Parts: sequence; C-alpha cells; structure tokens
Amino acid sequence: MNKTNFFKRQLPWIVMAFLALGVAIVAVAPYVTFNPANFNNATARYATETPLRQAGLYTHAFAAGIALILGPFQFLNRLRQRKPTLHRWMGRIYLVGILLGGLSAFLIAPGMISGLVGEIGLMSLAVLWLVTGWKAYASIRAGNVIAHREWMIRSFGLTFAAVTLRLWLGILIGTQVPFLATKYAGNFDALFVEAYRVVMWLCWVPNLIIAEWIVQRRRAPQAAVRKSLNPFQA
Ligand code: HEM
Repeated sequence: MNKTNFFKRQLPWIVMAFLALGVAIVAVAPYVTFNPANFNNATARYATETPLRQAGLYTHAFAAGIALILGPFQFLNRLRQRKPTLHRWMGRIYLVGILLGGLSAFLIAPGMISGLVGEIGLMSLAVLWLVTGWKAYASIRAGNVIAHREWMIRSFGLTFAAVTLRLWLGILIGTQVPFLATKYAGNFDALFVEAYRVVMWLCWVPNLIIAEWIVQRRRAPQAAVRKSLNPFQA
C-alpha cells in the first residue's frame, strides 16, 4: 500500500483520535484547577454544591476523560498485534474509566440546568455506557474476539458523545443566536438551556446508530464467507 492510500484509509481514525484528544484536554482542563470560577455555564452551579457532588464531578471529568483519550488507540490493529499486553492494560484502564465515569454521572445528573428531559437523556447514556463496557469486557473474558470488537465499537460510539455533545452544542447555539431577540427575549441563558436540553439526547443517539451501522457493515462480508463455505446455509 502506498503512502497516499495508507493516509486515506487512516483518515477517519486520525480525525476521530484528534477530536477525542482535543475534547478530552480542552473539556477537562478547567476541572484540574478545582476552582468553580473556571467552570462553564452548565457547571458553574457546583460552586454551591455539596462536597460529594463536587467529588462526583471531578471523578467523572477525569475518569471519562481518560476513557476518551485511550479509546481510539484500542482500535489500532498494529498496536493490538505488536503490543497485546499494552492493548490489554489500556483496555482495562478504559473500562475502569467508564465504570467510574458512568457511576459518577448518576451522582451529578440530578439538578442539571437542562431539567428532567436532559437528565433522563444523560442517565440513559450512562446506563448504556456501563452496559456496553461490561459486554465488551465479558465477551473478551469468554474468548469471543468478534463480539468484543463489536461491543467496543458501540462502547466507544457512546464515549465519543463527549465530542459530539460539544459539536452539537456549538451548532445549536450558532443556529439559534439569530433568534436571540425574537425567540428568547435577548436572554442568552434561556437559549443555552434549550440547546443543552436537546443536546443531552442528540449527543449519543446518532452515535449509537452509526456504531450499529459499522458493526452490521463489518458483519456482512463475514456472513458472505460463511455462506460460501456452506452453500446450504439460508
Ligand atoms: C458517555 C457517557 C457520559 C455520561 C452519561 C456523562 C454524563 C455527564 C453529566 C451528567 C454531567 C453533568 C452535566 C451538568 O452538570 O450539566 C457531565 C459533565 C461533564 N462530562 Fe460527562 N458524561 C459522559 C461522558 C463523558 C466523557 C467521555 C467525557 C470526557 C471528556 C466527559 C467529560 C465531562 C466534563 C468535562 C463535564 C463537565 C461539564 C463540561 O465542562 O462540559 N463526559 N457528564
């Protein structure tokens, strides 16, 4: 394979890894200061939250951030083949990141500025995140590599919600700003809350659909090979 073809084939991974690393660094950075004065519109409320909920936010941001950084590297064939032990350890850390990030999400979701609709959206995401992570782990422990790969695709599709959340939020705010005066009476906070509520679903439902499409597309050639080996198979 020449260099141009190699680059073309790797381009989706490069874009995905770049966005994942970028968001993990930019989104988590304010929480490294442990100072609510540096937080954003959505999390400024933590200045008056209980220490337990503040600890939940920090645990969530750091653990989920680590999962987002490690996730893309788990899909590199070369890394998996040449450094299987590294793949295994990164996978374990990724899954611990999901476990801590997912459980702490239940601690911080109640009271979000997006209200109940947004809270249900993110808690559904947290449940699916924990379930897909568990399935990815259970299938590899059972020695089922194909199922493990499929569950990891679904799992990372959900982890990637951290990226799509911020992209969609930017798009929704950008498209609503022209209506700030007419629809929101000039109140930017009202506009932000509306966009935030929608994004709590928009950040992960399309990701899961795309992940499932990737899984099914990969399955098709495998099914064709099985059929050619067994022409009597329906
Ligand atoms: C995929 C499952 C995830 C769920 C269910 C989830 C859930 C939540 C919840 C409930 C909040 C509180 C929001 C608020 O108070 O308004 C939050 C905030 C946050 N999450 Fe997640 N999250 C997930 C993934 C991630 C990932 C992968 C990252 C990695 C960067 C991440 C980083 C953050 C950060 C930095 C915040 C603070 C808010 C902000 O600065 O935008 N989350 N998340």
